[in-house]
Amino acid sequence: MPLALGKDVLNKARREGYAVPSFNTNNLEITQAILETAEALRAPVFIQVSDGARKYAGLENLANLVRDMASRVSVPVVLHLDHGADYKMVLQALRAGFTSVMIDASHHPFEENVHETKKCVEAAHAVGVSVEAELGRLQGIEDNIVVEAKDAFLTDPDEAARFVEETGIDYLAIAIGTSHGAYKGKGRPYIDHARLEQIAQKVSIPLVLHGSSGVPQWLKDKMKATGADLGDPTGIHDEDVRRAIPNGIAKINIDTDLRLAFTAGIREVVMGNPKEFDPRKILGKGREYLKQVIREKFELMGTVGRA
Ligand code: 13P
Repeated sequence: MPLALGKDVLNKARREGYAVPSFNTNNLEITQAILETAEALRAPVFIQVSDGARKYAGLENLANLVRDMASRVSVPVVLHLDHGADYKMVLQALRAGFTSVMIDASHHPFEENVHETKKCVEAAHAVGVSVEAELGRLQGIEDNIVVEAKDAFLTDPDEAARFVEETGIDYLAIAIGTSHGAYKGKGRPYIDHARLEQIAQKVSIPLVLHGSSGVPQWLKDKMKATGADLGDPTGIHDEDVRRAIPNGIAKINIDTDLRLAFTAGIREVVMGNPKEFDPRKILGKGREYLKQVIREKFELMGTVGRA
């Protein structure tokens, strides 16, 4: 199928009470794992490209890869720009054929965020592409973006309503306690469900949750078994993700869990078979674990069979 429009996929998800995972890709194997699993489970999906992915693999290369491979699956696939840094980046993504873009001007004061976002909405909507923007600030590390705890703040429900009204965006990323990366805090990393409920009452467009990896135990075990030294990584609990979805969360971003899965597979082959040097055997195991964790996400978010 041709690529799907972001807002079509997410409006349906919010209306019907499930969420669509947005997985970060960087290469062929990750893209294959996402698309083959989505097709097998009849699940709509977002594939997103971050600034780090653009630097690693090239924006056009990834856009062409996703678009070409998506043309041979029969479920809706949205090609999304993750954390677009500015207007210029958004224009580049529009030109490369993305069907959804994020402008992340959340580090600016409110009015400047509105101004920057509005500009991007005008350009994207002129060519029929959907727009995500962020209000509030997540803590953590994502590619080249590092946000310290002191700079993180949660989304204010009234401001969220004003922001959506003034910018005309199609879906809103909010900060409600999650964070990027594999270290989401000591004890139980939490989601501020009360705040989410308030936001959902005031904002009717689909809501987006970043920093939502679960860092599952089976992947931690596999990493440890192959000698990885990760300290004490922690993710968002499945029950928190499940509870957020009926309150308007329709797009859920996942990167860290894919990194862990891919690397766990690679490590297993490399460490366990010192004579192995066929990259297909090594990356192939990574792809197998990717598919497993991707399947778990579709099941968790209620996306299975929604295509
Ligand atoms: P994780 O680091 O929790 O996977 O979050 C990724 C993300 O939000 C990308 O935008």
